[in-house]
Amino acid sequence: MKTSKPAKLGPQTQAIHGGEPNRRGVNGPIVTEIIRSQGKNKAYIYTRYGNPTLSVAEKKIAALEGAEAAVVTSSGMAAISSALLAALKAGDEVISTAQLYGGSYRLMRDVFPNMGITVRQVGTDLAGLENLVTPRSKVLYVETPTNPTLRLVDIHKAVALAKKHKLVSIIDNTFATPVLQNPIALGYDMVVHSATKALAGHSDIIAGVAVGNSNWMDRVRQMIIYLGGCMDPGAAYLLIRGIKTLGVRIERQCENALAVARFLERHPKVARVHYPGLKSHVDHKLARKQMRGFGSMLAFDTKGGLPASRRFCDRVQLFLLAASLGGVESLVILPIYSSHYNMTNEELRRAGVSPGTVRVSIGLEDKEDLIEDLKQALG
Ligand SMILES: Cc1ncc(COP(=O)(O)O)c(C=O)c1O
Repeated sequence: MKTSKPAKLGPQTQAIHGGEPNRRGVNGPIVTEIIRSQGKNKAYIYTRYGNPTLSVAEKKIAALEGAEAAVVTSSGMAAISSALLAALKAGDEVISTAQLYGGSYRLMRDVFPNMGITVRQVGTDLAGLENLVTPRSKVLYVETPTNPTLRLVDIHKAVALAKKHKLVSIIDNTFATPVLQNPIALGYDMVVHSATKALAGHSDIIAGVAVGNSNWMDRVRQMIIYLGGCMDPGAAYLLIRGIKTLGVRIERQCENALAVARFLERHPKVARVHYPGLKSHVDHKLARKQMRGFGSMLAFDTKGGLPASRRFCDRVQLFLLAASLGGVESLVILPIYSSHYNMTNEELRRAGVSPGTVRVSIGLEDKEDLIEDLKQALG
């Protein structure tokens, strides 16, 4: 019987086979090995410049994002800083949303001004962006959905504005993952991820990745070579393994998160739930338009504010109190003590974070057990 290869492989097939060496007819291992030593091959002289295990992770993620190339990095922040610095120099300006992961926000607030780079902020609706653009504006940087209040940026609108004003567009796709949205296909120049989170998926590595066309990725790789934020091959192995189950994990996590969000929305002690899958969410329509699912992250505000939220975090039994997200185990955290520490009240207000906002990362447990735990912790 004649067999024919499908023209374009689906995302779950790409997650498993994308980037892997051809293993047909070879007695070699099914699983990509960790190459720790420097190769004799000219392409792999030294791991900071490139490494065969890292290359598999890079090709796999590029395939998932529908991009030409990717560069894996030692952390999400290494990917974000290297992508931004690949596109910026002293005298340039970045336009970014005020609602960002706190680390990205603090990088732009505390480090960029010392390098002669000016940062201007817009809201997630990008209103007023055109008034902020000057001949020195070079980059539009956004995150969607945002950490921690799950606001969305309209990706089509952002791309159109970036193209109109000749800005390099960079987007943090950590919360959505390539399973739920592919900004490169919609015209974005670069995508960055904290691969520490859902891509790796098991809360056991710190990792990052930048994705884009080969020209941009060559520039990002140069930054990694200069600044040293390359990935360790052991982390790359765990990342490759994690990505293979990304599709099924996200599908289940989305289902669990929606059930939890609906439960919280009805709870008398909860003031507000931030989850794009809820009709009450301010960006619900946009989420339906640009995402293939609503994600594993949500946040909520308790009616009792910070004291009630702290009590809640002390009482959860199944949920773990921890700063990461996107893994198989469900976590809770107060952003003011973690992702959004060291920010003024005004900055928190602009980011939409209240002192009592609880961020929740939904894992793969049975949703009934998660809801029972929330019920007892809120009670
Ligand atoms: C949306 C987002 N981007 C980037 C980062 C930074 O990633 P890393 O901790 O891997 O450096 C985080 C970390 O929480 C994040 O949530």
